[in-house]
Amino acid sequence: MAKTEPLPTAEIGDFAVPRHVAIIMDGNGRWAAARGLPRGEGHRRGVEALRRTVRAAGDLGIDFLTIFSFSAENWSRPPAEIRELMGLLRRFVRHDLADLHRRGVRVRVIGEREGLDPDIRRLLDEAEELTKDNNRLVLVVAFNYGARQEIARAARRMAAAVAAGKLAVSAVTADSLASYLDVPDLPDPDLIIRTSGEQRLSNFLLWQAAYSELVFVPTYWPDFDRTALESAIAEYRRRERRFGGLAARTGS
Ligand code: FPP
Repeated sequence: MAKTEPLPTAEIGDFAVPRHVAIIMDGNGRWAAARGLPRGEGHRRGVEALRRTVRAAGDLGIDFLTIFSFSAENWSRPPAEIRELMGLLRRFVRHDLADLHRRGVRVRVIGEREGLDPDIRRLLDEAEELTKDNNRLVLVVAFNYGARQEIARAARRMAAAVAAGKLAVSAVTADSLASYLDVPDLPDPDLIIRTSGEQRLSNFLLWQAAYSELVFVPTYWPDFDRTALESAIAEYRRRERRFGGLAARTGS
């Protein structure tokens, strides 16, 4: 993996930052194990890294930050760890919502709400409702989220529209399907970062990631900070995005 030098913030400010950054926050368990601590401590420190990252994203002028907080597949973890993660979400919303709101952050949630505890559903609804008019940074929380499940939900909504005579079969296109995803007006991520050295998408934003730049960093999530975010953005800026077209040539 190429070593990337962090850029000073002022320099970052002079260049285009990705509009939408999505993060797979991985490595909490390994961070804890490396220190002889329980996995829950890794998750708790993961929430601190999340706070730092949301703040940095706002400062850097990123418009959308999507975080993978709990995957549809995480239910296979031991019940005690699931309780811990649910508890951390409750605490995050209860303790941080007012501050996020004050700083102009709009919270949106993607994922399956069915099957979540009613109080968690209420907290997520409340976070979305309270912050709906904010526009400094959109924080998209992927909770009980799986990309294949999201695509299936979109297909189900479309099928219902077709069955109700509101949508013609010929109108089922890639663009129209995108408008049935959990948050239809969310632009595709420009940059997807995965921490902890793992190099896969693990059912995260599969539809939206078609042309995203992927940056894998060795850092365990609890150690992630503003400098690590700036390094990932610096790596992104070295990439050439062609979206299936040809490389831009000078002088032609
Ligand atoms: C991956 O680490 C991380 C998760 C499964 C959950 C991410 C959660 C947080 C960062 C804190 C919770 C935040 C909210 C808002 C709920 P891992 O446990 O898979 O680590 P490992 O691969 O090293 O075991």
